[in-house]
Amino acid sequence: MGAKDGARPGVNRRLLLQGAVGAGGLIALGGLGAARSMVSAAAPPVKGSLNKLFIPLPAHATTELTAAPGLTDLGGGSMGMALLYNGHLPGPTFVVPKGQLVSVPFTNGLDAPTTVHWHGLIVPTAADGQPHDAIVPKSSYLYQFTVNQRAGMSWYHPHPHLATASQVAYGLAGGFIIRDDVEDALNLPSDPYEVPLVIRDANVDKAGNLSYNGKASGFTGSIALVNGTRDAQLEVDRTWYRFRILIGSNSRLFNLTLSSGASFRLIGNDGGLLPTAVDVLAMELSPGERVDVLVDCTGIGAGETVNLVDTNSGWTLLRLTGTGALNAPTSVGRIPADGDALCVDIPTLVAPADVTRRTFSFDGMTRINGLVYDMDRISFEVPENTVEEWVFRTNGNAPHPVHIHGASFQVVSRTGGRRKLFEWEAGWKDTVLLHDRETVTVRIRFDGGHRGRYLMHCHKLEHEDAGMMLNFMVVDPNAQLGASPAAYDTAVPGPHGMAAQGHVSHK
Ligand code: C2O
Ligand code: CU
Repeated sequence: MGAKDGARPGVNRRLLLQGAVGAGGLIALGGLGAARSMVSAAAPPVKGSLNKLFIPLPAHATTELTAAPGLTDLGGGSMGMALLYNGHLPGPTFVVPKGQLVSVPFTNGLDAPTTVHWHGLIVPTAADGQPHDAIVPKSSYLYQFTVNQRAGMSWYHPHPHLATASQVAYGLAGGFIIRDDVEDALNLPSDPYEVPLVIRDANVDKAGNLSYNGKASGFTGSIALVNGTRDAQLEVDRTWYRFRILIGSNSRLFNLTLSSGASFRLIGNDGGLLPTAVDVLAMELSPGERVDVLVDCTGIGAGETVNLVDTNSGWTLLRLTGTGALNAPTSVGRIPADGDALCVDIPTLVAPADVTRRTFSFDGMTRINGLVYDMDRISFEVPENTVEEWVFRTNGNAPHPVHIHGASFQVVSRTGGRRKLFEWEAGWKDTVLLHDRETVTVRIRFDGGHRGRYLMHCHKLEHEDAGMMLNFMVVDPNAQLGASPAAYDTAVPGPHGMAAQGHVSHK
């Protein structure tokens, strides 16, 4: 980059600044802030002109992946600079059967270190794309793991030390769909009636390039992108659609509704299908969360429209416009009704009488239990194959979407704040939304067969980069360093001599 790209100096400078975040951390984040003066506020969407929704390309278990800057069509042929996986925003959607060995050769074509984290996938530490395992520019790494979990939609995104937020904001993200026999038996709507929707906000500058000015408090863009398309439109036949929704924003929460007042038929979330299909009118979702919904488009006639709307911002995210065509009935099976069992087996995690309960306070915008993230600090050990209760609370500056690597969890309760659990919080989750004044308790068991280092963090990516993250170890229950997690904590004190894991108690 640089001299030979002189025609777009602003772009290159910004992407270089973005690259500098990896090396310079928060100082460079400050630099991005300083660069804001040359970034115009994004133009409001052009009313009435809609762009065809981009459908990410398919990828399979051995598809090569490259991250690099490039031009992408943000809708209607308006090209903008962004950071792309395989030249696209979002990157390709991996579709992989359960049991498959995934072997993805990844090349870093950025000017800064990066990693690929497979969010929601339960993989060995070496394939988890943690900040510790940065891939330097111009080098490659083979991500290898066996998919050993039920059907569902996970995703992948960068996770480099101090630069996750900027790299995601500039465009790096993609979907990862697992198939299995249980799901196949339901004969749910399939391509072209199964559509992944990666929903996020963004800023674009005057030249139409993605821009980013995140601060520790977060980032809120002024336009919506659905699958990288602004003012997106999808032409729909008169049938049911299955939308695989991922909230891929850095900070922004979305409250999804349909302009027709119709419900979504919710059938799945982060960890796959729910036990029961359930109709919901609105879903408040935070960065990293996924939902799997069926939407009835049988009543949308030719030229008629229904909008997918975010009631928080008032934005239309996606316009569904009817073609009037009746689809071939063979392409879609029976649609599960509201309340129908989906024939999936979700065993309830049961806490033993002496369950280990760990409390994590999400403090301010930069700390968990008083501590800023330190790559080298292991905050606690978790014995594998053991149910524990983890309690998340905050002393302010929420929302904090809490995400855990290495296992899915079950949400047990929410007290304070919204005081209830929502339909999309049933089943298996890997990210749960914590609002101010809320205490959320989950049960978790690391039973994926992997021992090693994993992460917990706030998935407001600016909070994560600013330090709201910790490392823990999943260990052989018979070989823990200390007699109890608390003993381990003493062995590895945090920089302030505080117990990094907070307060461990037994019932
Ligand atoms: Cu989606 Cu640790 O991140
Ligand atoms: Cu947070």
